[in-house]
Amino acid sequence: MIDKDDRRFLTKEFSRIDGWCLDEAAWLTAALLQGQLDEGRAGPLFEIGVYKGKYFSLLTHHARKAGVTAFGFDTFQWVPEEEAMLNLHRACGQDAPFRMIAGDSSELTPEGLAAVLGAPAAFASVDGSHDAGPVEHDLRLADAATAPWGLVALDDFYNPMAIGVTEGLFRFVARGAGDLAPVAFCKNKLLLAREAYAEHYAAQFLRFCETATELKSVRAWLEMHERQGEHWVRQRFLDRLVWVFA
Ligand SMILES: C[S@@+](CC[C@H](N)C(=O)[O-])C[C@H]1O[C@@H](n2cnc3c(N)ncnc32)[C@H](O)[C@@H]1O
Repeated sequence: MIDKDDRRFLTKEFSRIDGWCLDEAAWLTAALLQGQLDEGRAGPLFEIGVYKGKYFSLLTHHARKAGVTAFGFDTFQWVPEEEAMLNLHRACGQDAPFRMIAGDSSELTPEGLAAVLGAPAAFASVDGSHDAGPVEHDLRLADAATAPWGLVALDDFYNPMAIGVTEGLFRFVARGAGDLAPVAFCKNKLLLAREAYAEHYAAQFLRFCETATELKSVRAWLEMHERQGEHWVRQRFLDRLVWVFA
């Protein structure tokens, strides 16, 4: 689960970077990534939509532990690439194992992405454009690039301020292109895994909630689970039971 080093990183370096990632989602991600490592699984990580590097710093922090590289894709239309690079170096060191790739993700193909990554990805974060077409495209890239045991995080799912993201996921699912299944919704991020691993990660989500009790919101979630019953926190969505931590 979350070790001392991850806890220090999340409360210090991660928290200092401006951006869009809530603590609970970051802590959960750290726990799931550590779970992969504990099972002897590692692979490159990537994010589409880095902005100033907040969530990406966590992926880079984990990449060092796993002995892999984190790849960040962004148009850098909102902030200069140099600002993100500076934040990453401050948070993860001058020799931080990351590569930043400037450009529009809609120009990326699954083959091109695979060539950049060099191996199936352990983790993909989709947090770029909020328009349905590009979101569907980015999900297809994530689906193609991720290892059979890998995870995909879709940011801004069900966020009314980024309404096209939800449409993008439904378009992806409706086309029946991949086999990604929803596992948990945690503070703006929908986590997806392949059907064969969905239950595995669902169990890890619950274990995270049972152990990360220093977070007040996690304690409140556990209390709701206990008092109101599981149907309050785990609901049927896209033919699966999905944990909901809103
Ligand atoms: C919501 S921000 C990402 C937040 C970031 N993940 C964090 O942790 O703070 C969205 C980012 O996606 C980038 N972006 C938007 N459209 C894109 C596209 N088509 N390809 C690549 N990046 C894109 C923007 O430049 C912006 O930096």
